[in-house]
Amino acid sequence: MVEIAPFGVEAWLNKWEKSARYDISQSTIASLTMDELMNLDGHHGAEFYEMLNAQKMNYGWIEGSPSFKNEVAKLYRHVDPHNILQTNGATGANLLALYSLVEPGDHVIAEYPSYQQLYDIPKSLGATVDYWQIHEAANWYPDIEELKQLMRPDTKLICLNNANNPTGTVLDQEFLQQVVDLAAQVGAYILVDEVYLPLDQPEKFVSIVDLYDKGIATNSLSKTYSVPGIRIGWTAANAELTERFRKYRDYTMICGGVFNDLMATYVLRHKKQVLARNRKLVMSNLQIYQEWIANEERASVVMPQAVSTSFPKLDVPVDIHQFCEQLLADQDVLLVPGDAFDTPGHVRLGYCAPQATLKEGLKRLSTALHQYD
Ligand SMILES: Cc1ncc(COP(=O)(O)O)c(C=O)c1O
Repeated sequence: MVEIAPFGVEAWLNKWEKSARYDISQSTIASLTMDELMNLDGHHGAEFYEMLNAQKMNYGWIEGSPSFKNEVAKLYRHVDPHNILQTNGATGANLLALYSLVEPGDHVIAEYPSYQQLYDIPKSLGATVDYWQIHEAANWYPDIEELKQLMRPDTKLICLNNANNPTGTVLDQEFLQQVVDLAAQVGAYILVDEVYLPLDQPEKFVSIVDLYDKGIATNSLSKTYSVPGIRIGWTAANAELTERFRKYRDYTMICGGVFNDLMATYVLRHKKQVLARNRKLVMSNLQIYQEWIANEERASVVMPQAVSTSFPKLDVPVDIHQFCEQLLADQDVLLVPGDAFDTPGHVRLGYCAPQATLKEGLKRLSTALHQYD
């Protein structure tokens, strides 16, 4: 039997996410309705529905349609559409990359805490995983000197989450280049989960696949693009790696589904409108969040950089898990307790909820915090 730790965030969200009235735990930028999506083209989706009605619900394009791959390739500087593989969300992309690359006895370094797949899947595959710990005192930014200490001549893979879940920290090109230089010295791969794009300056974001031949980018339409419900993600890598992924992919999924592929392509074709809507929402919600933090003496945070997840510290004299359960019971507000990221004392707060939900959620969170005054 393959041993694997329970997935902290998922275990918590699976239990509670449908029961909260004020859900400020999620890391998706407020999900779009079908109606909102269909109105992106200004024609109530008339063309989309016409095309959909003509589709056979067969397996569709196994690796993702050519249109999908073309749209995804446009998100990068130097990626050929052939080297994009469609997956079941970014979770499917991470699984595919890790399952294809990691063998028992391998040495893997993973940014920690971050998305749990990135360290617990390699462990479950028999790798030795060393944590590249991020520290609040350093604004949750990893320290390159610590990476140097962790590197070994046989390091096979470095896993990063850029921007980081839960902290929202964005790694810039200069820093990534230093990681690449270290990895290149020993021929290590670098896998970067890039589902969170900083929306204040998206043009400055650099994907690992555009920086490093052995870089693997995973991504999806779930967070930055607000459509987690279509369950579409992808891997982007060089031709040789992609060929390897193809082999393993055949054992883990057939296709993403005809409808989902069409929706994903449609959303990417309208990315300008989606990103403009989301940028506005992120920037105005950040302001609400900032004002709340400034006036809430029982909360502090390293502000995320226009990325839809944050990791504030709450000053409460009880266990954080217990506090979050009580908050849900008393105030109908959902957060993710920091123990899901092995960092008690903190909570994941998804401030990119619809604005009314955020405002009321924060107000009620304050009420819960001040019971300890
Ligand atoms: C860093 C990261 N990667 C992947 C996922 C899951 O993405 P998807 O819905 O595309 O599977 C999440 C969801 O929280 C995430 O935070």
